[in-house]
Amino acid sequence: IKKIGVLTSGGDAPGMNAAIRSVVRTCAYHNIECIGIYRGYQGMIEGDFKDMGPRSVNNIVNKGGTILKSARSNEFKTPEGRKKAHENLVKAGIDALVVIGGDGTFTGGLLFSTEFNFPIMGIPGTIDNDIFGTSHTLGYDTALNTVIEVIDKIRDTASSHNRLFFVEVMGRDAGHLALNAGIGAGAEEILIPEEDLGLERLLESLQKSKASGKSSSIVVIAEGDKIGKNVFELKDYVEANLPEYDVRVSVLGHMQRGGSPSCFDRVLASRLGVKAVESLIEGKESYMVGLQCDKISLTPLDQAIKGKTEIDRELLRVSDIMST
Ligand code: F6P
Repeated sequence: IKKIGVLTSGGDAPGMNAAIRSVVRTCAYHNIECIGIYRGYQGMIEGDFKDMGPRSVNNIVNKGGTILKSARSNEFKTPEGRKKAHENLVKAGIDALVVIGGDGTFTGGLLFSTEFNFPIMGIPGTIDNDIFGTSHTLGYDTALNTVIEVIDKIRDTASSHNRLFFVEVMGRDAGHLALNAGIGAGAEEILIPEEDLGLERLLESLQKSKASGKSSSIVVIAEGDKIGKNVFELKDYVEANLPEYDVRVSVLGHMQRGGSPSCFDRVLASRLGVKAVESLIEGKESYMVGLQCDKISLTPLDQAIKGKTEIDRELLRVSDIMST
């Protein structure tokens, strides 16, 4: 391997810059050239490349977002798009890729790698933590901390007005962010896609909490939950059935994806970047680097894509006990 290309793709996540920095500097350490590819796979199709040396990644370890920009490319889903992308890589002399992103990024990467026999390493970066083969994706820890910081603020106003707040948290089809942030922020109930609480039980639980003397409450709702109503419909439903409740809704949105990465995400990004580059040097291809039992591991990309991440059911019980 003489020249490695690095890109970020899909939804950005805090820690992506720290991972780019790690890839670039590990390349420099091993005397390998590194090329930054802008706007993910779209930039690969358009040949939007830039040489990256160790000084080109100064002062980014602490920055949210991604200096390489990100995109979700529809053109890369077509054989013509991928062919153009391959031609550009060959023209630039790039002989391996590190792709930083989530499920969609790895799916595109694996297809490309199989079609052109091109070595690829994936680094998991998404606030959703929904990738099999790693206990943590980059950005998840930071997003957890962002969410609890915001809910702490919501708690102040909820308790001043004796109100119930429904707080909608991101996570796509996974409830990791909602469940863990919900416990951390002391939520009364947590609605996640993996476990449908049901409307009846939600009402019962809210009634019980009022009767036990609680004057304000926070309910955390994952955006992909299965209760069958969106947060605003849920507010109307609860107010109609429990008139004693004054309900407000807060949809946290994209603020959850921004901000300076936590120390955990920065260290993880640094470790994953080193492993990704060194694995390519060792001749490994089509793997994802990840964290398992605090060790950096390799998972075949196809397993990382197909595998399902499980919710820790014990956390649901802990949450129940905490809302007593
Ligand atoms: O995958 C990260 C994520 O932030 C999800 O939690 C969310 O569902 C989605 O991306 C939002 O995507 P977009 O930024 O394209 O609206």
